[in-house]
Amino acid sequence: MDRIVIEGGKPLSGRIPISGAKNAALTLLPCALLTDEPLTLRNLPRLADIDGFGHLLTQLGVSITVEGVRRGEFGRVMTFRADNDAEPVAPYDIVRKMRASILVLGPLLARFGQATVSLPGGCAIGNRPIDLHLKAMQALGAEIELASGYVKATAPNGLTGGTISFPFVSVGATENALMAAALAKGTTVIENAAREPEITDLVQCLIAMGAEIEGMKTDTLTVHGKDRLHGATHAVMPDRIEAGSYACAAMITGGSLELVGAREDTMHAILAGIADAGGLIEFGKNSIKVTADKGIKPLSISTAPFPAFPTDMQAQFMSMLALASGTSLLTETIFENRYMHVPELARMGADIEVRGRAAVVRGVPGLVGAPVMATDLRASMSLILAGLAAKGTTEVNRIYHLDRGYERLEEKLSAVGATIARVGGEG
Ligand code: UD1
Repeated sequence: MDRIVIEGGKPLSGRIPISGAKNAALTLLPCALLTDEPLTLRNLPRLADIDGFGHLLTQLGVSITVEGVRRGEFGRVMTFRADNDAEPVAPYDIVRKMRASILVLGPLLARFGQATVSLPGGCAIGNRPIDLHLKAMQALGAEIELASGYVKATAPNGLTGGTISFPFVSVGATENALMAAALAKGTTVIENAAREPEITDLVQCLIAMGAEIEGMKTDTLTVHGKDRLHGATHAVMPDRIEAGSYACAAMITGGSLELVGAREDTMHAILAGIADAGGLIEFGKNSIKVTADKGIKPLSISTAPFPAFPTDMQAQFMSMLALASGTSLLTETIFENRYMHVPELARMGADIEVRGRAAVVRGVPGLVGAPVMATDLRASMSLILAGLAAKGTTEVNRIYHLDRGYERLEEKLSAVGATIARVGGEG
C-alpha cells in the first residue's frame, strides 16, 4: 500500500486550483438514472469515489463516455446514458466501499418502480443509519422490505407526491427525496431539508433536466413531479471542503495560498473560522486568497448543518488549532465518532483531550513528524496538514482514503512549495 511522505516546516505559497466537489458529484451522478437521455457532467474530479460510482452506474445499465479535457478546464467531462435495461440492484460489494451508493435508491425507484440496494453498514466515523432515506421513500408510497442485508423497495404504480418531514437534517436523505420526488405523481413537500450547497447544485441540475422545484437554498423544498425528465449538461460546483482544507494549509504553514475557483457563497462559516483564527482573506474575481498573518488564534467551533460550520472541516481545523496560541474548543454534533485523528495527532505532539462530543485543543508551539495512520477521508487530510507544519518527516499510511476525496493532492501541494511524495509500501 502506498504512503505519503512529507518533509514539513515550509510555508506554502502560490495558486491551487480547486477541483469539482466530490459530494456534489456523488449526488449528480445518480441523476443520470432519472432519464433515458444523456446527462453530461462537467468539472468532475478524478477521484476513486467517482470511478466507484461510475462502476455502479454501469452495473445499472448506464453507458458512460469520457470526453477529452478542453483547454483551461481541469475536471473531466463525462456523459451518462441510462437507456439499457438492467437489474436495478446495487450490490453489497460496491455499496460497502462507498456509502453514497444509497443515492441510487430514489432515482431507481422513481424511474423503474423498484430498487434493491445493499445496506451500507457501519463506517469509521459513526453508525450512519439510512432510516431517513427509507422513510422518505415510504412517504412517497414505496413499500420497503429489509432482507439478507438488502433494502428492497417497490412502487409498482410509481411514486406519489407527499410530505416528507425530516426530524433532523440529513444531506443524503434530502438528496434521495429530491431525486425521487422529481418523477413522482403530484407535489412533494420536503420539510427540514438540508441546505448544503451540494443540495443547491443538485436542485439546479434537476431543474436543467426539466424538474420543477421551488424553495432552493431554503429548508422547505416543493417538488412538482414530472412524467419524465430529459437530458442536460451541468457543471459540478467547486469543492468547498477541498478549498477549506487548503486554506488550513496556508494557515498552518504560515504561508499564503490563492484558491482558484473557490466560491465564497459556499464557504462563509469556513472562511469566518479562518479569519477568526487570524488569517487574512482576499477575494479575487474567481479566487480566494488566504494568508497567515500573526500566528494562529484559538477558536471555539461547533459543527452543524449548513450554513453553520461543516463536520467535514472539523479534523482539518483541529490540526490548525493544535498550533494555536491558546486553548480551542471543538464540538462535533453530526457524527458520534469523528475524533479518530486525535490519537494520531497526539503522536506528532498535539495536546488534545476528547470529552464526549467535545475536544479541547491546547495549542503547542510545534509539531514533530511521525509515522501516522489515516482512518477516514477528512482525518487523513488533518494528518497531511499536521505533516506540512511539523518539523521533520511525516509518513501518512492508508492513503486510499485521500484518493477518495482529494484530486492530485501531492501535485497541488508540491506546486506551492511542499516537499511531499507518494511512495510504495506501508511504513
Ligand atoms: C453527507 C456527506 C458527508 C458529510 C455529511 C454531513 C456525501 C457523500 N457525504 O453525508 O461528507 O459529512 O453529509 O454534512 O455527500 N442519519 C440518520 N439516518 C439517516 C441518515 C442520516 O440517523 O437515514 C444521521 C447520520 O448518522 C448523521 C446525520 O444524520 O449523524 C447527518 O448525516 P447526513 O447529513 O445524512 O450525512 P450523509 O448524507 O451520509
